[in-house]
Amino acid sequence: MMVSDSFMWDFTKLRKTPRPRWPFAQGEETVSKRAGVVCVASGKGGVGKSFIASNLACLRAAAGERVCLVDFDAGLANAHLLFGLAPKHDLGSVLDGTVTAEEALIEGPHGLHLLSGGVGRARLANPTRRELGRLFTALRALEETHDLVVVDHGAGLGYAVIAHLAAAKSFLLVTNPEVTALSDAYAVFKRAQAVNAGVRVGVVINRAEDEEVAKEAYERLAAVSRRFLGRDLELAGWVETDPEVPRSVRARQPLILGSGESSAVAGIKALASWEGLESSNPGESFYDRARAALR
Ligand SMILES: Nc1ncnc2c1ncn2[C@@H]1O[C@H](COP(=O)(O)OP(=O)(O)OP(=O)(O)O)[C@@H](O)[C@H]1O
Ligand SMILES: [Mg+2]
Repeated sequence: MMVSDSFMWDFTKLRKTPRPRWPFAQGEETVSKRAGVVCVASGKGGVGKSFIASNLACLRAAAGERVCLVDFDAGLANAHLLFGLAPKHDLGSVLDGTVTAEEALIEGPHGLHLLSGGVGRARLANPTRRELGRLFTALRALEETHDLVVVDHGAGLGYAVIAHLAAAKSFLLVTNPEVTALSDAYAVFKRAQAVNAGVRVGVVINRAEDEEVAKEAYERLAAVSRRFLGRDLELAGWVETDPEVPRSVRARQPLILGSGESSAVAGIKALASWEGLESSNPGESFYDRARAALR
């Protein structure tokens, strides 16, 4: 399948800075650095958030960053399955106070850390405001020990998603080219605007037949946003429909770890260079902002 030139991958782009150690010294002083936090959200379910979040996290870890993937599809988590991991702890154990967020992490490929969301935990599927506040307080530690935190969300506009979007400097909005998915993506963008007017949104068109279909879908979404919200939308990237994706899910190994250079791999690699990922550090603590958004 043809892949446009813009998807030619230069791995060195992600290697501009050596992996920093925490706490790291600059001359005499110790400089505190917080992770950038990038949320991966969608309106419609099943559009490819977990596939994109897990491969993106893996790719950035492969480039030497300390990456943590938080599976916030709480109660219905499946990111661990995409890595073939069996975590002992999850967000539920963190909420219970059984373990700290750091203790709940499990190590994946390239030293990537995963905080699983837990499966079948009703309390996590519908956390109260107080429970979410407790989780955000616990997750704050992850910002201090990683360079990038990628948050994989459940579909739609649950309370936890809105609190994350309110705190985000930037987030990835995943959609398919179908009108139903685009319409739901618009609803998420509109809500994000309402709670966080300055947020930078990168649209990802996943499962596109080709570049033309992806660009057309993006244009439709962008036109509606310009017309009704007076806001431009960025295209962060697009990923082709690729039979290697379900194959990688079955194999429980992230696609980008395979040896093949399929079209979806090219799309994910281009997405990993989206500028919004670099500006995702909110300066102040992301999780402090998320907690404040609950009030
Ligand atoms: N580019 C692609 N090409 C082919 N299949 C894909 C592609 N992206 C995702 N898929 C398939 O779509 C299915 C759903 O993907 P995924 O679980 O990542 O969606 P999701 O948005 O996280 O879903 P949910 O809303 O349930 O969390 C997966 O089984 C995956 O194999
Ligand atoms: Mg998912």
